[in-house]
Amino acid sequence: MTKNQDLYSEAKKLIPGGTQLLSKRPEMFLPNEWVNYYTEAKGCEVFDLEGRKYTDMISAGIGTCALGFADDDVNAVVKKAVDRGSMSSLNCCEEVELARLLTDLHPWSEMVRFTRCGGEALSVAVRIARAFSGKDKVLFCGYHGWHDWYISSNLASDKSLDGHLLPGLKPSGIPRQLLGTSVPFNYNNVEEFLELSKKYEDDVAAVVLETVRNSPPNKDFIDAIRKFTAEKSAVFIVDEVTSGFRLNVGGAHLIYNIEPDIAVFAKAMSNGYPMAAVVGKRKVMQAAQDSFISSTYWTERIGPTAALATIEKMKALDVPAHLVKAGKAVQDLWKEKADKYGIQIAVEGIYPLGHFQFLADNPLLYKTVFTKFMLSHGFLASTLYYASYAHKDNHIQGYADAVDETFSKMCSMSGSEMMSFINGNICHSGFKRLN
Ligand SMILES: Cc1ncc(COP(=O)(O)O)c(C=O)c1O
Repeated sequence: MTKNQDLYSEAKKLIPGGTQLLSKRPEMFLPNEWVNYYTEAKGCEVFDLEGRKYTDMISAGIGTCALGFADDDVNAVVKKAVDRGSMSSLNCCEEVELARLLTDLHPWSEMVRFTRCGGEALSVAVRIARAFSGKDKVLFCGYHGWHDWYISSNLASDKSLDGHLLPGLKPSGIPRQLLGTSVPFNYNNVEEFLELSKKYEDDVAAVVLETVRNSPPNKDFIDAIRKFTAEKSAVFIVDEVTSGFRLNVGGAHLIYNIEPDIAVFAKAMSNGYPMAAVVGKRKVMQAAQDSFISSTYWTERIGPTAALATIEKMKALDVPAHLVKAGKAVQDLWKEKADKYGIQIAVEGIYPLGHFQFLADNPLLYKTVFTKFMLSHGFLASTLYYASYAHKDNHIQGYADAVDETFSKMCSMSGSEMMSFINGNICHSGFKRLN
């Protein structure tokens, strides 16, 4: 056992589920052999408890650190904010400055509320929508966090959230009275949306969707949502927690000419420091005044300070252009190497948020084997790649060489050879109770 494994064994005894985030569970990557913990992260390099160095070609901190880990410019202003008091009995000026910046970046919007995490920001957005419309029902598409309004959709059937990023999210602990309050629909499926909007017509408070994840939104899909929400005074909410600040500086909805009533941001906007924003039209946002939405640490200073510095740097260096270029290079090399060795894969995702799937009888076995080989080459890698500004040509070239070697070995391995290579421990695919 290594220090990393020992600590995780202890964690599972002390922390139900082992970690605070499903996507950081070692079982999602390489059970019993994943790196688990870090001591230092800088740029795209990470050191584990044994002092080993890895290059992060996986999620750049679950999509938070688009500038790279511990960015010097962001850290400099954060350190100053810490020294000058990150908390006081008064409000911080930076939140007003950030509200001004976000409404300038999104000219259709006029007001902003802040939280510190993506899921809670979505909960605030849905609360505002319900307060504004006086209605309850939410139609949604995509992943939106752990809160009751969202997971309650699985009360109807354990399967209703499958296909919305994380399969198998259990509604245990969610009041059964919420059954039927949130209803999922599939991305770009106009007929399905029209059917639902007809069925629930006057009961819909909000339509919530991730602007983009795998393929761009079709115009008729967006037009149908916009028409319905406008006619029925429902609130059109785009969730930009993951899509925001990657294709452009701001929400991806700007690129696709979508005019929502609310856009929600988190993750990349503050490069690893907790920050989230609910940006919206004045007439809708004012409903926040009729509902109690208030939390102590939503007033601290580090989040808005980090967001201002991150957004400024993204603008100055055109970071999204770099993310698109790096992401395209990685998607291209996955396809090229897979073709070279006759491995069947399907690649998806906008360039900064790419992923692939092994088209095999047991894709999770392939995924685990891939992860283990890549780890032996010094890469934190899986079947996804979130681009960061810290990924330069040399990192991508080193990664390409490691993928080449990995695929060259995998293409001639039998299923049983793969199983023994990973000691029979296949990675998990979604939410599951840990023993
Ligand atoms: C689109 C989207 N919405 C909401 C969330 C939830 O954000 P958080 O994990 O910060 O609560 C995520 C997280 O991955 C996300 O991708």
